[in-house]
Amino acid sequence: MKEQDLKQLLKEMTPAEKMGQLVQLTPDFFSEGGEITGPVEEWHLDPTHLFEIGSVLGVTTAAQVEKIQREYLAKSRLKIPLVFMADVIHGSVTTFPIPLAMAAMFDATEIEEMARLSALEASKGGVQVTFSPMADYMKDSRWGRVMEGNGEDPTLSKVLTAAYVKGYQGSDLAHDKQHIASCVKHFVGYAAAQGGRDYNTVDFSDLELYQNYLPAFQAAIASGAEMVMTSFNTVRGIPSSGNKALLEDLLRQKLGFDKMVISDWGAVSELINHRVASDKYEAADLAFHAGVDMDMMGDAYFTELPQVIQTKADQERLDQAVWRVLSLKNKLGLFEDPYRGLQDPGFTDLNASREEVEAAALRIAQKSQVLLKNDGLLPLAKDETVALIGTKATSQDILGNWSWIGDPKEAISLAEGMAGKSAQVTCLPLTEGQNLTEDEIEAAVTLSKKVDKVVVAVGELSTEVGEATSMAHLKLKRKQAELIQALYQANPHLVVVLFNGRPLDLTNIVENCGALLEAWFPGKMGGVAIADILYGTATPQGKLPMSFPRAVGQLPYTYAGLSTGRPETKANKGGIYISNYHDEDNEALFAFGHGLTYGACDLALVSAADQMTNGALQFAVSVQNTGAYPMTETIQLYVQDEVAQVARPIKELKHWQKVSLAPGQSHEITFTVTEDDLAYYHSDLERSADTGYFKAFIGTSSEKLPLTQRFYFQK
Ligand code: NOJ
Repeated sequence: MKEQDLKQLLKEMTPAEKMGQLVQLTPDFFSEGGEITGPVEEWHLDPTHLFEIGSVLGVTTAAQVEKIQREYLAKSRLKIPLVFMADVIHGSVTTFPIPLAMAAMFDATEIEEMARLSALEASKGGVQVTFSPMADYMKDSRWGRVMEGNGEDPTLSKVLTAAYVKGYQGSDLAHDKQHIASCVKHFVGYAAAQGGRDYNTVDFSDLELYQNYLPAFQAAIASGAEMVMTSFNTVRGIPSSGNKALLEDLLRQKLGFDKMVISDWGAVSELINHRVASDKYEAADLAFHAGVDMDMMGDAYFTELPQVIQTKADQERLDQAVWRVLSLKNKLGLFEDPYRGLQDPGFTDLNASREEVEAAALRIAQKSQVLLKNDGLLPLAKDETVALIGTKATSQDILGNWSWIGDPKEAISLAEGMAGKSAQVTCLPLTEGQNLTEDEIEAAVTLSKKVDKVVVAVGELSTEVGEATSMAHLKLKRKQAELIQALYQANPHLVVVLFNGRPLDLTNIVENCGALLEAWFPGKMGGVAIADILYGTATPQGKLPMSFPRAVGQLPYTYAGLSTGRPETKANKGGIYISNYHDEDNEALFAFGHGLTYGACDLALVSAADQMTNGALQFAVSVQNTGAYPMTETIQLYVQDEVAQVARPIKELKHWQKVSLAPGQSHEITFTVTEDDLAYYHSDLERSADTGYFKAFIGTSSEKLPLTQRFYFQK
């Protein structure tokens, strides 16, 4: 629709029709034949206004979308189509690994491809907007939603967030119906919930907000994200959904986002629980004037906006919010085709793309896995006898949270994957979801004594990660750690394969195994992908996007901590009155960026100047695989500002490159560090680089950085 026609439409709308556009409800409100049932009655909503609402979330099938849209359009005076949204987080019909796992690829191209394929499948199911990516800056894995994010590094998250948006949206949403709009979330600070307890108090400094929390959102906005979702938490004491300084001054004015803002689920009414509004009227009033355009699954806007909108200024704000909703619908081409392709011949057919999507899901599952430890046990040889034991051996609970469209019954278990590799595997599945019994552990021990090597598959349940799954303890549960200990005593050729969604405390696991593979929740193709890694038909290459702590007491944790006044050094380690723990090391058990390969990486600095001129400095690095197996390494470059105007991190990731080399092969890569890489937010919240000395560290993890180059930067 032309812009002038859209403006005309806005003019023709009654106030009630306008207010309706700002409401989003679930499909439950629409039932067979358009009867009003369930929630509408419970919420005491006026059913006459149901056919004026703007959006529906959580749709599951194309048929459902078609039906609701048809019924809606038949009853709506101006025939403004609904826009349908859903959480398509890591694939749609075909489940990919969880986002945290995919972040371990350090690969924006693959993320973009995954998002494109997710959009392709989701659009065929009637989804028009996805509530993804989650751009939250996170450093506490007690918070179960870390599985949905990109990990602890703002630069990595920035790059991957942008890739998600581009992949979902493509370049022409109005015509390319196999792409969907992207809603970046949660603005802002949700992952900082104190103690890792979901929805808990959040409080962080402005400096940290600018430095660490905002970059990924800025990247999403720059990449054209069509929507932003508010977070549940407070920022400077005010819940995001009622926070004008946050939404208007920061998001709109400073970050330049002029599209639609939606609240999180029920977050407008939750302003009452936060005790910043006394009732629904005040909650709606606060959110509306703060800049929330659409109320997700709440009745505050539905019932209270008529009372809230009184003045001319209120009406202008209403028009502004409605305009954003209409603009999104227009951008999606809904005025021309409210069914967005669903009625086009063959559009909903998933078979044509199945092979392509599954191949990508397999490749991405392989690339996401992180080899944490390997004392030479891996790769397995096909003629070795292997016992596959554990709660996850035959389990199909490998999709992870937010895989509501994907069918776990179609997930390929590790047992299936390994059976495809070797006939020498004996499988002993153990019960999942309850404590292992002594009999089970004994049977496992007996079997493990009879074989060359043991693979034990253990981990978390899908229901233990995701929203509202905070954990105070991060050790493996349900006697799985005891199982590992017993097996290791019986046969030290023990490989642990972990299925989980968050950095766990693996201290008692790592000392009781010869190899440890982080397989995450690997998605539908998981079993094949893991077997490929175990048998060396695929190269392990994942790198941790989030550090694994030694103990819960270290959390929140980031490798990029600030310099302190009393830093621990090699010389003073174990001393007193320094910044350390008396009962534990400061460092993570497995640091950000860690991940082994089957090859052996040798790095040398070929050339680098000691001064940055014209705003850029190049580092030529030679990479050699001196090992016996093919290798794909991610070479990482970190920067340290030696002396700055505010305390700065000891190191920060700035660049990385993936290099694939056959045994004996070498290759030269170049990193270009720019002035922008040296810039940071000063205490006045302005960003620039200071004149002075910097160090660049280059290596294969945040803790394994053999190359160092000091250089001078002059403004
Ligand atoms: C609540 C979650 O916080 C958000 O991430 C999600 O998109 C919505 N529910 C909708 O399901």
